[in-house]
Amino acid sequence: MGKIKRIGVLTSGGDSPGMNAAIRAVTRTAVYNGLEVTGIRQGYAGMINADFIPLQASSVSDIIQRGGTILKTARCEEFKSPEGRLKAYNNLRDAQIDGVVVIGGDGSFTGARLFNEEHDIPFVGIPGTIDNDIYGTDYTIGYDTALNTVVEAVDKIRDTASAHNRMFFVEVMGAEAGFIALYSGIATGAEAIIIPETSGEERDLKKIIEIGNSRKKSSNIIIVAEGDKGGGAFGIAEKVKDDFKDYDIRVSVLGHLQRGGSPSAIDRVNASRLGHAAVEALLDDQKSVMVGISNGEIVLVSFRRAVKLHKDVNHNLVELARILSV
Ligand code: F6P
Repeated sequence: MGKIKRIGVLTSGGDSPGMNAAIRAVTRTAVYNGLEVTGIRQGYAGMINADFIPLQASSVSDIIQRGGTILKTARCEEFKSPEGRLKAYNNLRDAQIDGVVVIGGDGSFTGARLFNEEHDIPFVGIPGTIDNDIYGTDYTIGYDTALNTVVEAVDKIRDTASAHNRMFFVEVMGAEAGFIALYSGIATGAEAIIIPETSGEERDLKKIIEIGNSRKKSSNIIIVAEGDKGGGAFGIAEKVKDDFKDYDIRVSVLGHLQRGGSPSAIDRVNASRLGHAAVEALLDDQKSVMVGISNGEIVLVSFRRAVKLHKDVNHNLVELARILSV
């Protein structure tokens, strides 16, 4: 028998559709390998407060299709301090937890990395965030579902925009990154996409709209990433409104509906693969690493790289969006 006998699993940071599928995969893979599983509730806060529940194979029945997370999630200030992490370590020791799977985003992995520099219980991460902004993995759990939610919403906005000949500024999530905006913009045929990663003519709304105007487009949709420094959808709409006096302008901020809903098939399958891979990694004595998917294959990426390095958008897609919106 290896040295890992019991693993803990938690979800941390903003929830994302498919986290439950990952919890299920972690639990079932652990059970399959003869390990005990402890669910840690409310992310790192649950580690600090010893909010633990036993998980069996049956505890994760009927959750693969549900959004949110059965373990709850939180952003935890106390875990940012060495004292908080020491409390967490002592609780993990008391509960005989020998390894932990952290499902979350870069903030969660920053905490996990610090923990593994100080303490000997290995942590392995699974990228779970709708933002898809983690270096070293092509994909994060929840991104595909969120993207499809945005596309469905923007398609509906297009209907009413066309009916009224209106210009809409639609703000989407993504934290500091423009992945959701860029992909949803291409998928909905947006006239322009404003994201933090660009600074060129793709941001020249006046020129873009004039081109469309010359062929009498009946509506204009401009997708704005929330992390863009131009002032968000409201700010940009305000700045350019004098350039578009003939247009009836509306702003729509999609907000947290982007985080909910039943996960897509892609999110369920990838979450299942990543959950399985995370337990395998712990059994292989890995620590301080994230499991990711790159070119369709499972990869291991150190927390150090995943957190420190910047994942850029594909600038060929920025160009594609500009060409196709003429
Ligand atoms: O990281 C996920 C995310 O939904 C971001 O896209 C967004 O900026 C943020 O979380 C919102 O956080 P909160 O739910 O705390 O308002």
